[in-house]
Amino acid sequence: MDTHSSIDALRQRLQGHSRVAFVPTMGNLHEGHLTLMRAARQYADTVVASIFVNRLQFGPHEDFDRYPRTFDADRAKLATAGVNVLFAPTESDLYPEPQGYFVEPPDLQHLLEGAFRPGHFRGVATVVLKLFNCVQPQAALFGKKDYQQLMLIRAMTRQLALPVEIVGVETTRDTDGLALSSRNAYLSPAEHQEAPRLIKTLRVLRQKLLDEGIAQRETLEQEAVAALDKHGWKTDYIAVRQQADLALPRPDGQKLVILAASRLGQTRLIDNLEV
Ligand code: PAJ
Repeated sequence: MDTHSSIDALRQRLQGHSRVAFVPTMGNLHEGHLTLMRAARQYADTVVASIFVNRLQFGPHEDFDRYPRTFDADRAKLATAGVNVLFAPTESDLYPEPQGYFVEPPDLQHLLEGAFRPGHFRGVATVVLKLFNCVQPQAALFGKKDYQQLMLIRAMTRQLALPVEIVGVETTRDTDGLALSSRNAYLSPAEHQEAPRLIKTLRVLRQKLLDEGIAQRETLEQEAVAALDKHGWKTDYIAVRQQADLALPRPDGQKLVILAASRLGQTRLIDNLEV
């Protein structure tokens, strides 16, 4: 595996490669990321990963400065996961001048995660488009863990006619159900024990939805929030939405997904569960 930080060097390295699969990340890699790397092999001969903690997608009071940066360990993991090329630009490689052009996603960017993280998805869409332009992949893989992100990137790719196939990959979990996340590193040992309650609560909610019906949606959402918060969580949202557009469920039986974000101490965790 070779590593490049400049866009020019990366482009030279990839010249003549006809099928490239790409997995963008912010580093601090865990088994969830590595699952994406291994899956990427099915889509191309050349697998490119990127590590870049993208300032544009962090709010002014979010964790940009303390986001875990573990570059040497990450590079070793990528090499064993069969990645061919690592693109690890510095901030001045990717943003040599202040970024004045942005990708402004549609209203979906203001729902759910977007309501609690203003500007987040605009920052994500902008960097992902820029990374696509650097790597020029034929396929790009994203985790369903970040469900709304995956949906926004799919829509961007469609609406801007980007020549990239977007592949969604199932969430990798610990044996206790906890979705792997770089932010789990912030949890104290006690919080780590408590953290699986998030997915367990979503599983209970899913079962009740199936038993009691969609008409009970709001009551069941509120019950789920209460079930978490009585154990010290501070829940931003637990929401049953349509898979296709994250809109409120319509009575015509569309497929549903439950999305959640909740804070345990200083750490904000997100998860989701398809129904
Ligand atoms: P990051 O949080 O590092 O995640 C990189 C990719 O790994 C994303 O597609 C994310 O959904 C996926 N991922 C994270 N945890 C996962 C898990 N437990 N199972 C499966 N996939 C998982 O998402 C970002 O970075 C950034 O927003 C980025 C797209 C790189 C743009 O900056």
